[in-house]
Amino acid sequence: MYNYWEELENNIIGCKKCKLCMNRNNIVFGEGNKQAKIMLIGEGPGADEDMQGIPFVGKAGQLMNKAFEGIGIKREELYITNIVKCRPPQNRTPVKDESEACMDYLRNQVMLVKPKIIVLLGNTALKNILGEEYSITKIRGNWIERKQIWYMPTFHPAALLRDNSKKIDFWRDLKKVLEKIKEIENNE
Ligand code: URA
Repeated sequence: MYNYWEELENNIIGCKKCKLCMNRNNIVFGEGNKQAKIMLIGEGPGADEDMQGIPFVGKAGQLMNKAFEGIGIKREELYITNIVKCRPPQNRTPVKDESEACMDYLRNQVMLVKPKIIVLLGNTALKNILGEEYSITKIRGNWIERKQIWYMPTFHPAALLRDNSKKIDFWRDLKKVLEKIKEIENNE
């Protein structure tokens, strides 16, 4: 059988579509259940992710894992990736030509996973996926449906590390994800 994942993963090996290739140690393609109902999209790899080649393994990722575990969703059930697959220097926000260069990989990942829900972690994911006009502080916690995918924008877990008071909203947003997935499963 033709393996689209294999083709996609082979395509990205040695990618030089943007300047982020110059300083990377590893491409951080994505990890998780390739049939996941819930997909998470972050911004881009940090130092730990760049070293290990796996998304959300650093402090922010550990906090995120705990939050999901707390509501009864295991990391292994999710598919996790980022807007850009290579670490931006000093963890700066990816610029337009970088996120655009990487977008086809993400489009293909979404097409292959076919998630019911996509959790957008932070402004970079939100703006690149749903549009520049959105802002996480205004829209987080609200469902947006596009082409039969439900999007839940929420804070980036790194924002929770900087500001404890955001944790409760993050947790509330994840609870909404849990409720929605139950609703979807009940209607299947
Ligand atoms: N921050 C992100 O946006 N993605 C990661 O994979 C790690 C930290």
